[in-house]
Amino acid sequence: MNSVIEQIYATRQVVGKSGRVQELHSAIDKEEGEFLYRILSNDPTLVKTLEVGCACGLSSLYICEATRGRSGAHHTIIDPHQNSGYDGVGIRNLQQAGVGHAQLIEERSEFVLPRLLEGGSGPYDFIFLDGWHTFDHTLLDSFYATRLLRVGGVLALDDADWESVGRVVDFLLSYPCYEELGRVTRVRARGWKGWLAPKLASPLSTRRWKALLSRNAYRKIFEQRITRMIALRKRSEDARSWTWHSEAL
Ligand SMILES: C[S@@+](CC[C@H](N)C(=O)[O-])C[C@H]1O[C@@H](n2cnc3c(N)ncnc32)[C@H](O)[C@@H]1O
Repeated sequence: MNSVIEQIYATRQVVGKSGRVQELHSAIDKEEGEFLYRILSNDPTLVKTLEVGCACGLSSLYICEATRGRSGAHHTIIDPHQNSGYDGVGIRNLQQAGVGHAQLIEERSEFVLPRLLEGGSGPYDFIFLDGWHTFDHTLLDSFYATRLLRVGGVLALDDADWESVGRVVDFLLSYPCYEELGRVTRVRARGWKGWLAPKLASPLSTRRWKALLSRNAYRKIFEQRITRMIALRKRSEDARSWTWHSEAL
């Protein structure tokens, strides 16, 4: 793996364009980065990539490392705060790593994504969403990402363990055009209540409980693992009719 990535995780420190040292924060971890890297490395047709949310540039580094040297490789990064909020750390890290195929658009995704769609700069082969994490914002980013992605392309979302992002993920999973490609999970910490609850719940089937309980309550009782990051493959055009509806939320 790239030595810049290794060094950042080893020191947990990053340097901005002003030369100021900062503690690493808001970044994907190694397991998540390697997950993105594997998806991109295993599919040489993924060359035109797009990302929302750069911060210290960890996800950008993994994405660009995986596509480095591929013909036509180009990575577009959308982040309105890269210089104002992060002192250009992410872009500096990409430069340090010798990445020459990334471009930063320093504006909010809610303005940039519709413009990219209207301007016909798509389709993209791979889109990673890790920007503003409210439910509506993630849904909006996903709405445009689904349109900007080519059939066969991959959409990945970080922080699926956030209630807001997780709901959008559940909704996307119900689209006929998406299939799950993989996920990064962690074990749910549950204690004795977590052990007891499924036993008390056993007189009814899990399907019945799913219908009766709130999404959160069901997950806490029955799901052993929490999804942190997920990747979806767009297997067909999004051909839902205007009357399509999903109960996934
Ligand atoms: C969790 S951090 C991204 C971490 C990064 N993907 C990584 O792994 O290193 C979230 C980023 O979203 C950016 N952001 C906040 N609001 C945004 C918006 N409206 N559009 C695009 N990006 C936004 C922030 O500036 C921040 O850099």
